[in-house]
Amino acid sequence: MHKKENATGFENLPRHIAIIMDGNGRWASKRLLPRTMGHREGMKAIKRVVEACIEIKVQALTLYAFSTENWRRPKSEVSYLMDLLIEFLNRELQELHENNIKINVWGDYYSLPPKCVKEIERAIELTRNNQAMAFNLAINYGSRPEIVRGVKSWGRDLLEGRVNIDDLDEDLFSKYLYTHDLPDPDLLIRTAGEFRLSNFLLWQVAYTELWITDVSWPEFTREHLLQAISDYAKRDRRFGGLNNSKQEGKNVKSKNI
Ligand code: IPE
Ligand code: IPE
Ligand code: MG
Repeated sequence: MHKKENATGFENLPRHIAIIMDGNGRWASKRLLPRTMGHREGMKAIKRVVEACIEIKVQALTLYAFSTENWRRPKSEVSYLMDLLIEFLNRELQELHENNIKINVWGDYYSLPPKCVKEIERAIELTRNNQAMAFNLAINYGSRPEIVRGVKSWGRDLLEGRVNIDDLDEDLFSKYLYTHDLPDPDLLIRTAGEFRLSNFLLWQVAYTELWITDVSWPEFTREHLLQAISDYAKRDRRFGGLNNSKQEGKNVKSKNI
């Protein structure tokens, strides 16, 4: 049995880990395989990472699975990704449910093929009262569309008298985003070496710790995840203040967001 990594020696375990799973295509091309094989191999990495997060007792895991920009890819790749999504949910749903995992899907999934919508809704419905970990899949997700959606929804509440304009602040606005019931990500991992956010959680990562690796997503293992968490645990999150050891005055604390 694995040593329990949560109680694990890591004092500052991230509550919420978000991952930009990148590099599937390059992983495949390097091996002279079609890009789709990279996505299939990437699905195994998803399973490894979910299992590790359950074991470590992370409060939330968010995976960027398909962006609003990924529609620019060839139709055949897009439809392979959609089929893979259904296959993943089909295959893993029962086990996730037994592990008390709550599945959320962030993004406009209604515009996906009907079979995907059906599978997604089944997963959400079955796991809706689960509490061990929130497992969030960002599918047809873009951060800017998420923010615009939030603004519209707030605007509707304003027009219909449910909120006052002067009550709008960051906390209230956060309630209109997919992340409304979760802490912001503490740790954002991006695989395959690109230094960009690609329209992922722009509002929520204001103070998130970034961890970027050259390892491609299909090669990403539990050990890589533990390395990221261990590096995170050593970071000094100042939130604009001073290093804890340099703080003066008894009541000065880093803002805990
Ligand atoms: C990430 O891998 C998966 C998705 C974006 C769906 P990519 O398919 O982007 O792989 P690369 O970046 O082309 O290697
Ligand atoms: C980001 O990866 C989107 C997902 C992981 C789903 P991309 O491969 O689409 O990002 P870019 O195009 O390199 O920015
Ligand atoms: Mg990519």
